[in-house]
Order: sequence, then C-alpha cells, then structure tokens
Amino acid sequence: MGRLPCHPLTPLSKAISARPRPLILSGDRRVSIPRHLTARRSPALNGVVRAPGDKSISHRALILGAMATGVTEIEGLLEGDDILTTARAVEAFGATVERPGEGRWRVTGRGGFQQPAGAIDCGNAGTGVRLLMGAAAGYPVTVTFDGDASLRKRPMKRVTGPLADMGARFEWLGEEDRLPVAVHGGGLSAIDYVQTVASAQIKSAILLAALNADGVTTVTEAEPSRDHTERMLRAFGVAAGLLPMGAGWRVSLQGGQALTGTAVAVPGDPSSAAFPLAAGLIVPGSEVTVEGVMLNRLRTGLLETWREMGADLTVSNRRMAGGEEVGDVTARHSALTGVVVPPERAASMIDEYPVLAATAAFAEGATMMRGIGEMRVKESDRIALMATGLKACGVRVEEEPEGFTVFGGPVLGGATVTTHGDHRIAMSHLVLGLASKEPVSVDEPGMIATSFPGFSELMRGLGADIS
Ligand code: S3P
Repeated sequence: MGRLPCHPLTPLSKAISARPRPLILSGDRRVSIPRHLTARRSPALNGVVRAPGDKSISHRALILGAMATGVTEIEGLLEGDDILTTARAVEAFGATVERPGEGRWRVTGRGGFQQPAGAIDCGNAGTGVRLLMGAAAGYPVTVTFDGDASLRKRPMKRVTGPLADMGARFEWLGEEDRLPVAVHGGGLSAIDYVQTVASAQIKSAILLAALNADGVTTVTEAEPSRDHTERMLRAFGVAAGLLPMGAGWRVSLQGGQALTGTAVAVPGDPSSAAFPLAAGLIVPGSEVTVEGVMLNRLRTGLLETWREMGADLTVSNRRMAGGEEVGDVTARHSALTGVVVPPERAASMIDEYPVLAATAAFAEGATMMRGIGEMRVKESDRIALMATGLKACGVRVEEEPEGFTVFGGPVLGGATVTTHGDHRIAMSHLVLGLASKEPVSVDEPGMIATSFPGFSELMRGLGADIS
C-alpha cells in the first residue's frame, strides 16, 4: 500500500489531505492521474506482499464505532476512497474521527447518529451508502444520501424496502429506486425479513436499523452471505442470535441494545489479494505470497474454485486476527483447467468473478459461471464489461442473462478496455495483460484507489510491468 505520512492524532480532514498523489476524492477529479494504465507481458513475478485492509470490515468498523458510545481504535483500516467517504459520513453524523498513524484510526462515538448539516455523499461506495442508510434509519434524523454517477445507477429499494417496512420514510429526489434519496428515520419496529438475494449489504442495513427498533428483528438467508456485521456487533457488546436453517441461517437481533466502543484489527482483504495471486497463477515461473489474507469461509469461494481448476495455492501461518481467521496465501504459476462454478458458491466470491474470468482465459477448456445476475448491479454491469473486455483481448466469451462462460486459449491482448470507472474491471484486465501477447490498457485507472490504493506500485514490486 502507499505510505501515508503519520501525524499524531491527525483529524480526518488533514488525514485525507495527507494521502499521497494520485488521490481521488469524490467530486474531486482535478488531481494528476494517468488517463490510462497499461500492463505488458511480464517476466516471472516473485515476492511477498501484504493485502490492504478488508473493505467490508473497514466500512463496518467506522459505522459501528460512530453508533457506539466511547472510543473505537481501528488498526489496518483500508485507506481507499470508498472508506474515506464513509469516514467523512460518520463525522457528519456527529462522531469524531482521527488518524493517529498509518492505517490506525480512532472513532469517538456519541452513542448514536446526530442530524448532519448537509447531504451525505457516498461517492462510489455501495456498501457505504446501504449500511449508512440502515444505521441512519434508526435515528430521528432527516438526511439525503447521494453518490457518484455509478452509485446513482445502482438499485436502492432492496434496502429502502425493508427499512420502510420497519417504519422509515424515503423520498426519491430523482428517479425511483435510485440516489439521491432523503431518509426520515426513527420510530422503527422489528420485522421478519426473508432474503431473496444472498446480500450482506441488505442483511447488514436491516440489522443496523434493528438496533434501534422495537422488538426482535430476524433476517433469514437461504444462502449465507458474509457475516462481518454479526461478528462485529458481538465485539461491540451486542447479542445477535444465529439459528441454522437448511443450507442457510436466521439471524436475530433484539432492539434497544447499546454498542460500546472497542478495538478492531482489520484483516487483509481477500477480494484485493485475489489480483496479485491471479497474476502469480498466470505469469509463467511466478511465486507470489500475500500475507494476512482473511480466510472467513464466506469469502473464500475463489480460492476453492482456483483449486478445482488445478491452481497451486498454499496457505501457511493460519492464525486469528481481529476475530477472523487469516493466513499467508502463496500462488505459483499453474496449468489451469476450466470448471463449472456452482451457483451456490456465488455469495462467497461475488466480487471475484471478474478476476476469475481473467484467469479462466488462460485455462484449458471452458469455465462456466452461472447464477450471478447480481454482478450486473455492482459498480458496473460486470458480466457485460468482462465479456466485452475479454473479447477485445481475443478471448471467446458467451454471455447469458445471469452468467457467462469463458473459453481458455491464446490471449492476444492489444486492447484498451473501458472500465466504466469500475476498480475491479480495471485490475482484472491489468492482471490479464501481464500474461497476454500484446499489452492491455484500461481507462479511468484512478478508480482503482476506491478499494486498492497502491495497486500498481505493489504489482510493480513483484516485477509486473504496469505503467
Ligand atoms: C459487501 C457485500 C457484497 C459485495 C460488496 C461488499 C459487504 O454486496 O459485493 O462489495 O460489505 O457487505 P451484496 O451484499 O450486495 O452482494
């Protein structure tokens, strides 16, 4: 990760301005960032790197810290743009946010959200806006949430629907189901909600609202989604029940429980670790180790899939950090074979299909990915953009409404890929370019900083030719 200058007790505004260039803050596109990044066929990659802090856990640490009473000390926070927008948001809701050092953040909560002075701009962050809406709905505040052009295209009713059932009121200020939206919170009652899509964002928004609702709220999931909110609530002193139900579970939470500030150690993000590991698998002769990768079984679907494809992956030094299992993952160049990815694995690797598709282009045979319609409503329509980008690089792809199939073969490259400002589309194609015949370029590379600031530097440190 990029090095940020350390200042004792840097307040949020100064901490953000202390970040190294290139820096993109939402609404600030003036800084000098390259218009394209290009990856070229590289010699064997070698080295040991550290994964940046997990994005899901970083959002939750800031939000729960702001809802709590007292001080929450966070270590290893992801200092990506998505997280900085959430940090600014919780400050607007009345918390004090400081940065005592690199990756070390201190949130002093006031025991709840207060009325903010203006609208909350969540930039590119879907997780940020959906979780913040859930939290805000529980308090007697009126607040407008907005985001960048990509976030304004993403559906919000999946969250506002259940929150409205609990008693919150929403006014669409533009198009229905899209940001900007005004939320009138407070006076909530518990609901029993049965998820129709396995979404941790929806579950988390409901649970955060449920903290300030009358009665016991339940969320039932047929396929379990990532459980970081439930785990972290317990660390903040909240009891959340869990009842196994077939392949899924029912989470229950009694309203009126108070949160107490705590210490949070953020483990490394498996969704970011996936990119250097993917490069290790496809660039001949490589051996790449990423240290401190979170191994929560609801996040490791990609590792399982790669293993089924014949990937040489080893996990060493398994340990517990911040209430999660972590380990050091090593990827060595491997002869991969195409597989059918079981649809029920989707929730545990939903953000990883783009990079899986990039590695599948180098496999022998076809890799079928189905039951992943959710990919179309992420930061971009990721099925469409991966299909277009891979085809432009000479890869055969068949697109379906709810999935796609990538046929391995010679990867020509030689294209400039349109990313629609989606960080994972950009990184997936850059990884592809490290092993394709001709270079691969991506537009809007500044957006990579939403989840992986310092990506290019880290990859260059391994020997990747990216500039
Ligand atoms: C996230 C959940 C996932 C994932 C997103 C982060 C979270 O979204 O795609 O990047 O932190 O809860 P859904 O819950 O909508 O599938």
